[in-house]
Amino acid sequence: MRLTRRYRFSASHRLNTPALSLEENRRLYGKCNNPYGHGHDYVLDVTVEGPLDASGQVIDREALDALVRERVLRRLDHKNLNADVPELAAGVPTTENLAAVIRGTLAEGWPLAGRLKGVRISETDRNIFELEA
Ligand code: NI
Repeated sequence: MRLTRRYRFSASHRLNTPALSLEENRRLYGKCNNPYGHGHDYVLDVTVEGPLDASGQVIDREALDALVRERVLRRLDHKNLNADVPELAAGVPTTENLAAVIRGTLAEGWPLAGRLKGVRISETDRNIFELEA
């Protein structure tokens, strides 16, 4: 059985690669290279998989919510991804990289019954990124 649980958070970022020139960065990232950054209302889907437990559920949803809140939302919501998230500060906070950070953070010592199957993040209606766990 597979369950996908949806969460939302808002954060800002600026996409810029220091190794590239101003012009190259503008061409590569377009508006996302705006020097003062910009925000997104991200939608995060976390999918877990496993057999049903004695309660007839695949996972304790409150426990999953607590885990996502503690490990992900608390660290990302209303934050500047360039400055506030150490794993992203050294690179470019694209949503591809953000998805990898979230997956890694959630997967580390996964404490719940049912296993993490993957994460999906919508940055906009048209940009949706998925990563298998
Ligand atoms: Ni952006």
